[in-house]
Amino acid sequence: EPLIHFYEEATSTMTIARDLAESGCPHMTTVVAQRQTKGRGRLNRVWDSQDGGLYFTVILRPSFPINQVYKVLFTASVSLAQVVRNLTGINATVKWPNDILVGEKKLNGMLSEMATQDEFVQYVNLGIGVNVNNNPSKAEPNAVSIRDLLGREFPRRKILTGFLDNMEERLENKGEDVIAQWKQYTSTIGRPVRIQTTREVLEGRAVDVNSQGSLIVELADGALEEVFHGDCFYQS
Ligand code: BTN
Repeated sequence: EPLIHFYEEATSTMTIARDLAESGCPHMTTVVAQRQTKGRGRLNRVWDSQDGGLYFTVILRPSFPINQVYKVLFTASVSLAQVVRNLTGINATVKWPNDILVGEKKLNGMLSEMATQDEFVQYVNLGIGVNVNNNPSKAEPNAVSIRDLLGREFPRRKILTGFLDNMEERLENKGEDVIAQWKQYTSTIGRPVRIQTTREVLEGRAVDVNSQGSLIVELADGALEEVFHGDCFYQS
């Protein structure tokens, strides 16, 4: 059955998870590290991984066709936002596509790697760093931790197990209604946003997220643009 592998120190839980996934470990196998020496963020950024934060990668084997894989990440952000809200009472919101925010500040980061076979997903390694009892604002001024918000330490284990249980259950239901649930938690819709994609920068107002997870942005001239991938920044 799936296990939780614990490391005091790892380069990156993504690296360990890749080896486990390639050697055929079961769905929901998880790698947790107390700290990471080479924590990885999106777009080749470094993810500061000091003691006190929660750093893990869960190996998922959803029976989804490749074109549905976006659902895995939306499911993860809904699960995490819900668990943080339920356990801590913090008003966590989701920023498109997958960041959890409190106010304007970032509580987590999410990274995924996948392998496919034919039209199907073989595994998705979902790496999540949650600012729990660490001090993230030193490295990243727009970040905040649960400890900063509550004024006391919070057990990382509760976030981890709460998330894994929630995620597993939602995937058993094939990520059903995930976009609708994501919309209940989002702070993006209605906001003026700047979207950076690999090709362009768009500015406008976020008006919706469609059933494929794409953000619909209304440009200044009223035209609607559909964005599937990109970084989203709120414009105040
Ligand atoms: C981001 O840039 O927002 C994504 C950050 C993802 C960080 C997590 S921490 C656990 C896992 N291991 C890594 O090296 N990165 C992810």
